[in-house]
Amino acid sequence: MCGIVGYIGPKSVDSVLLVGLTRLEYRGYDSAGVAVLDKGELHIRKEKGKIKALESMLRDHPVEGRMGIGHTRWATHGEANRTNAHPHVDEKKRIAVVHNGIIENHYELRHELMREGHVFHSETDTEVIPHLVEQALRDGKSIEDAVFDTIKRLTGRYSFALLHDGDPDRIFFARDGSPLIYGKGAGESFLASDVPAVVPLAREHYIFENGQWGWITKDELHVFNEEREAVPHDLKKIEVKAADLDKGGYEHFMLKEIFEQPGMLRRIIQHRIGDNGKLNFPEKAGSNDFLIRLSRLIITSAGTSWHAGMVGKMYLERFTKVATEVDLSSEFRYRNPVAEGDTKVIAISQSGETADTIAGIYEAKAKFLRVLSFVNNPESTIARESDAFINLMAGPEIGVASTKAYTAQLIHLLLYATFVGGIKWLTGKEERQELFEEVRRLPEMMEHVLERADVIKEWAKDFRETKDFVFLGRSWNHPTALEGALKLKEISYIHASGYAGGEFKHGPIALITDEVPVVCIAPQGDIYEKMLSNIEEVRARKAKIISIYTEGDEKIQSMSDYAFPIPKCSELLSPLLTVLPLQLLAYYVAVERGCEPDQPRNLAKSVTVE
Ligand code: M6R
Repeated sequence: MCGIVGYIGPKSVDSVLLVGLTRLEYRGYDSAGVAVLDKGELHIRKEKGKIKALESMLRDHPVEGRMGIGHTRWATHGEANRTNAHPHVDEKKRIAVVHNGIIENHYELRHELMREGHVFHSETDTEVIPHLVEQALRDGKSIEDAVFDTIKRLTGRYSFALLHDGDPDRIFFARDGSPLIYGKGAGESFLASDVPAVVPLAREHYIFENGQWGWITKDELHVFNEEREAVPHDLKKIEVKAADLDKGGYEHFMLKEIFEQPGMLRRIIQHRIGDNGKLNFPEKAGSNDFLIRLSRLIITSAGTSWHAGMVGKMYLERFTKVATEVDLSSEFRYRNPVAEGDTKVIAISQSGETADTIAGIYEAKAKFLRVLSFVNNPESTIARESDAFINLMAGPEIGVASTKAYTAQLIHLLLYATFVGGIKWLTGKEERQELFEEVRRLPEMMEHVLERADVIKEWAKDFRETKDFVFLGRSWNHPTALEGALKLKEISYIHASGYAGGEFKHGPIALITDEVPVVCIAPQGDIYEKMLSNIEEVRARKAKIISIYTEGDEKIQSMSDYAFPIPKCSELLSPLLTVLPLQLLAYYVAVERGCEPDQPRNLAKSVTVE
C-alpha cells in the first residue's frame, strides 16, 4: 500500500508534501517521511506513526527547499519504526527514494550489493533501490542510465520517486504495478500515488502506465517506456474538488460518508434511471447478443465489495436467470476456475486498486473471458484493465471502513441486473416500473433511518467493554450480517462474526452467553419467521438482542433489548437500509472505545499487496 508524493516548484516543499501525504494517509499510516533537496544537499526527516508525528518533527527540525519527495507507510518488510520509514538513501546520502509496492527480489539484490561493500540500515525491500542507483553511478553511468538499469533489475510491483543530489531540477520516477500519477500546476509539478494528493494546486494530470519511467521538472514531464522510447502523454483535467476531500464539519470522514448516502443514491438513481424508466448503462461490456447468450457470471471481489457481490449474486440470478458465483479475489486467482466462452467476470472494487482483484482480472483475461468492473475510481487500474467498467459514482471515500461505496455497489448491481434482465426479456416493463418507483423512494427512506442516528450513539455506551458480537441475517441480509460484523471489528477491534441465521445452530450457537450481544437483522419478508426463531433461540440462552426490524413490527420490539426500525420496503431493497444502523453502530462503538475510525490499526484503504 503506502502513498508517495513528489513536488518541484516555487512553494515551500515541506508544506506541499505534508498536505499531499495527509491526503494519502488512507493508504497507510505506520510511519511517514520526507527528503528535500536544497543547495545540492539531501535533508531527510522521518518519524514513526501518523503524518502528525512527522509534522511536529518538521516544526522542531525544519527543512528548506523547493523540491522533495514524501512517503506514508503501510509496513510490509520490517517493523513500523523510524529506521524502516521512507525515504531510504544510499550510503553517501546522494540518492533518496520513496517507494510503494514490493520488490520481490530484494533479498538477492541486497546480498549482491553487500558483496560490493554496500551497507544497509533498514529491513526494507526499498533500500536496494538507492544502492543499485548508487552502484551504477559508481560504475560511471549517467543518472538516467542508472535509474533505467535499476528498473531492469527489479521484480515485483512498484512505483517510486527518486532525488539525486547532483540533479537540482529533476525528480525521477518509475511505475510497474503500483499506481502513480503526474500533476501539473502553474510552474510546478507533482508526483503522487493518487490524484487527491495534488488537489487543488495541480489542474491537470497524467496516469502512468506500467513500465513507464522518466523525470519531472517544474514545468515538464518526460516519460519513457521499457524500450527507452519517449512516450507522448496527454494531460487530463482534474475533476476532484478540494471540498470533496475534507470532513465537511463532521468529526470523521466515516461519519460524513455514512450521511452522504441518501444524496449519493439520489444522484445515482437520477443518472441511471431515465424519466421514461429506461436504464442508462452504456458500459455494459458485451453486445446484447452476448448478454442474451450469457450462461454464467463470476463475481470477484474482496472485503466489503465481496459482501456487495453476495447481494449482487441474488440480484443477478433473480433478474437475469444466469447462474452466478461469488468468489473472494484472493481465492479466485489461485483456484484455476473452470470457465468458458459465455461466462462473464464481474470485478467489484471501491478503490479499483486491490491487488488480489487485479490479479483475478488477469486470470479471467488469460481464459479469454470478458470482464466488467464496478469501480469507484474510473481512472484506476481495475477500470483500465477491464473490458468495460461501471462508475459507482460514490465520490471519494476516505474513511478506511467502506460505507457509501457499499450502498453504491448494491444499487448499481440491482439496476444492472434489471437492465440485463430487460435485454433478455425476463423482466417486464411493468415489473421494472414498480421496482423503480420504490427505488426512487430509497434516498428518503435512508434519510429517515439516519435521522435516528442518536439512538445508536446512546446504545454504543453500553458496548464499550463488550468483547464479542454476533450478527445474524438470512437470505438478502446474510451479507448484511457479514458486513455489520466486518465494520465493527475493523474499526472498534471487538471480535465480531456474521452468520447465516440457519447455519447458526450448526456450531456457532455454542458461542452464546449473556455477555455476547446478538444483532439480528429481521425485516419483513419471506424468511422473517425463520429469523424470529433465531431470536428465540439466542434469547433462550440469555444473549442481549439488538434487532433491525421493519417499522410497526411490535413482536420483534417486545423480544429485543435494543430495537431499531427501518421503513417498510421490498425485501430485496432492504440491504440498502439495514446496513445503515450497522455502520452507525460500528462507528459509535469505535468512538466510544477511543478508537480512530478513519484510520484503524494495521489497515489501509487500498490493499495493493497480494
Ligand atoms: O477497494 P476495494 O473495494 O477493492 O477494497 C476491498 C477491501 O479491501 C475493502 O472493502 C475492505 O474490506 C474495507 N476496509 C472494508 O470496510
